[in-house]
Amino acid sequence: MEERGTGSGDGEFWARARRHLLKYGGEFVDFVPVRAEGAFLYDAGGRRVLDFTSGQMSAVLGHSHPEIVATVRDGIGRLDHLFSSMLSRPVVDLAEALARLVPQLPKVMLLSTGGEANEAAIRIAKLVTGGWEVVAFAQSWHGMTGAAASATYKSGRRGYGPMAAGGFAVPAPNAYRPRFPGVDWEAELDDSFDLLDRQSTGNLAAFIAEPILSSGGIIELPEGYLAALKQKCVERGMLLILDEAQTGMGRTGTMFAFERDRVVPDILVLSKTLGAGLPLAAVMTTDKISRKCDDRGFLFYTTHVNDPLPAAVGLKVIEVVEREGLAGRAVELGDRLKRGLRSLQQRYPCIGDVRGRGLLLGMEFEALDRGQKHSARALSDAVTDNALKLGLSANIVRAGASDGVMRIAPPLTATEAEIDLGLELLDAALEQTLGAAGYRAIARSSTGATEAATVSR
Ligand SMILES: Cc1ncc(COP(=O)(O)O)c(C=O)c1O
Repeated sequence: MEERGTGSGDGEFWARARRHLLKYGGEFVDFVPVRAEGAFLYDAGGRRVLDFTSGQMSAVLGHSHPEIVATVRDGIGRLDHLFSSMLSRPVVDLAEALARLVPQLPKVMLLSTGGEANEAAIRIAKLVTGGWEVVAFAQSWHGMTGAAASATYKSGRRGYGPMAAGGFAVPAPNAYRPRFPGVDWEAELDDSFDLLDRQSTGNLAAFIAEPILSSGGIIELPEGYLAALKQKCVERGMLLILDEAQTGMGRTGTMFAFERDRVVPDILVLSKTLGAGLPLAAVMTTDKISRKCDDRGFLFYTTHVNDPLPAAVGLKVIEVVEREGLAGRAVELGDRLKRGLRSLQQRYPCIGDVRGRGLLLGMEFEALDRGQKHSARALSDAVTDNALKLGLSANIVRAGASDGVMRIAPPLTATEAEIDLGLELLDAALEQTLGAAGYRAIARSSTGATEAATVSR
């Protein structure tokens, strides 16, 4: 790695990084923050970057929120970590607060990461149904640990030996790029379950789903889909697990995304946003499922289960999200951001689609030509790189994972001015990218295929 242009400008730092750090997901980002506050990251030279991905899609309260800082300071100095069978007040308080938000799921277990929590959810589903087959969407991301990775179909399946037996994938409904144009989601869902029933050995345990597939490219399940999916699960005696790692805590305009659909899952999994960037996850379920777990001796004993310090953070996150009306803010700011992105789409026809809910938005590019150089992926990557140089961090999933979709998810505490600044920077990054590609804008041919044209905007 050569000394990098927009990073810390510190060749020695990058030399040490190259020498000692294992890569786990492609290249590292060419910017080295030393401080983060609110919606901004700052490097050692004082250069600031607007964080439009809330860190790893988690920091719903922005960075270093004063009340989270105070909670962590207090917790670390008073009650940090305990023997895993020992309870503490913050744990019971958080479980109660979560149960107040979803009264149908009053039984709560606190863990650290999304993958780990999905692991626990799948384990519960297997134990209480007696089944072991797990179904997920073909564009899903549920984590890097065993069962979660087995239910992750977006990427990462090759080279790691066998996945869990009994894994099935069905396509997520994609309104912008339907798998079979002209076939509605109901027919697609029926067909998927028909295929599933033919392949299943009669041991279905769970369907695990994100209400909006984020890593899969901001694919929103249409209204009615979750209810239909739940019905399919009920008919087969399998549980519905909803993974609200990214969609929870107000991000989509309601505290949890499932609320729009009025469909309560059998198991709700929260992570990422629950700790607003600190490692905290929760598995929530019904009294009935919890009783069955008890009867069958459910075991999921980990080092950090029900630890007091992250629980105190989660409690504070709920308090701030509710007190500040941040779900409502996500609607207001999301509308503003979406309007801005749609106006970019008007001016840059290579933006094929703008979609998403609240402050979880996606912008999908169209290829400029049939080659690799101007593929949707190449465009999304180039715009991302140029945006970073201009001071905007957007789209954390690079080519290969989200294809040509840029994911945009600012903190819910962002200001209108910060949203507008992000849009300006995106505009400039698009202008630069298309200019460098030799195109001022792209026109669509009457057949709907995109083609390059040198026209000014
Ligand atoms: C929907 C969803 N579930 C689970 C995970 C995994 O969470 P973690 O990386 O904390 O294990 C992610 C991570 O991106 C995610 O987006």
